[in-house]
Amino acid sequence: MSKNDTVTLTDNATGKQVELPILRPTCGSPTIDISSLPKELGYFTYDPGFVATASCHSNITYLDGAKGVLEYRGYPIEQLAEKSSFIEVCYLLFHGDLPDKDQLDEFDDIITTHTMLHEAVKRFYSGFRRDAHPMATMVGVVGALSAFYHHGEDIHDPKHRMITAHRLIAKMPTIAAWSYRYTNGQPMVYPKNSLSFSANFLHMMFSMPTEEYTPDPLFVKALDLLLILHADHEQNASTSTVRLAGSSGANPFAALSAGIASLWGPAHGGANEAVIRMLQDIVDSDNDVAHYVARAKDKSDRFRLMGFGHRVYKNFDPRAVIIRKTCMNLLAELGTNNKYQALFDTAVELEKIALSDEYFVSRNLYPNVDFYSGIILLAMGIPLNMFTVIFAMARTVGWISHWNEMIEDDDFRIGRPRQLYLGAETREYVDIDKR
Ligand code: SDX
Repeated sequence: MSKNDTVTLTDNATGKQVELPILRPTCGSPTIDISSLPKELGYFTYDPGFVATASCHSNITYLDGAKGVLEYRGYPIEQLAEKSSFIEVCYLLFHGDLPDKDQLDEFDDIITTHTMLHEAVKRFYSGFRRDAHPMATMVGVVGALSAFYHHGEDIHDPKHRMITAHRLIAKMPTIAAWSYRYTNGQPMVYPKNSLSFSANFLHMMFSMPTEEYTPDPLFVKALDLLLILHADHEQNASTSTVRLAGSSGANPFAALSAGIASLWGPAHGGANEAVIRMLQDIVDSDNDVAHYVARAKDKSDRFRLMGFGHRVYKNFDPRAVIIRKTCMNLLAELGTNNKYQALFDTAVELEKIALSDEYFVSRNLYPNVDFYSGIILLAMGIPLNMFTVIFAMARTVGWISHWNEMIEDDDFRIGRPRQLYLGAETREYVDIDKR
């Protein structure tokens, strides 16, 4: 290794030194391979929340937080948002390249013919309370699919991994829509093979057996765009959860169920639902935006500006820029008397005030993917508690692509982080009558 490809670490207590290799990426930050540190110097590294730690190498998605760059397999998100479709992005993320027409048609047909669920799965829903949060239902039903697809499944067989990806991408809309229908006491609607991925989801969500239903093309297009923008985001909390759960060789449906659980948190995918609740509170408070900005800055108040800030982006989240424009255009199409304009106007006002406030500017807090997305979903008639379910529906392809990449990686091994132990020193057991 040349000197330029290593860093030297010196233990000042002993004077011992170790040369650590620098791993160079295609683009982005180089990383230091610290795997020899315990053996060479007897140290672990400590990095709560993995702020500065790469857990793996990946070819799938690249983010540049400083420049606000997001690329799927090298393609800028802005170009994919403008020119691609969610089903094409699914192919790109899983297979690594854009499909030609025949490949895309074949992939679309495969996904379309995997949208049905085993009839027994319907009965799972009746085991949930009617008011169960659809994310709870999704965690349960996706995990339960591991009971249907387990025997004979070999995760080390690329063909088995590909069909698992097909099943999950295809069935998530059906699982999601059925959660919504069950909550509303409405009959489950079967997928329709004649419809596109996004149109089929709206069909399963909103069609009634009593009358013809045609999904609004405006909403189909907006939903497909949201799915593209939410499809992957490198090693976020839920994707890292899927990787860690899958690293033990666990059933992929069970591993994705763990990812769905992680996404549900308000600090992650649950933020889109929390943003609307926050915006609605502000509208109901006669738009006292300044009060909410002050609360977000007050350390004694747990309140945070939901939809703001990001672990990686210290500039605009490129997805938020696209979603804000889509939201504005969709509301304009719906007409100025649409009932969501007040939420959008409040969001724009909040963004303007926050981005001129030193607290947010000094911490590089910008709107993220969740800040405007909920307004679009509301405008489509999708209820708040289904927002993160839509996020999970989109992110399924990212999760399963990372799971697949991990298993086919020559370095594949079970993930097992270490710790900094600060507990009690060794001590003798004391009988209860002497305590
Ligand atoms: C997603 O990782 C991904 O890629 C996720 C995601 C994906 O596609 O998978 O992009 C999707 O999860 C987007 C994020 C959605 N979450 C929210 O919108 C919730 C609100 N945001 C925050 O909770 C927060 O910004 C996080 C969780 C997103 C990031 O948290 P970090 O990186 O741990 O940052 P931090 O908590 O260390 O914050 C740094 C500072 C702190 O202040 P100081 O201690 O320096 O004084 O900024 C403050 C924080 O208090 N801060 C905020 C804030 N976010 C951070 N203050 C007010 N409001 C906020 N939203």
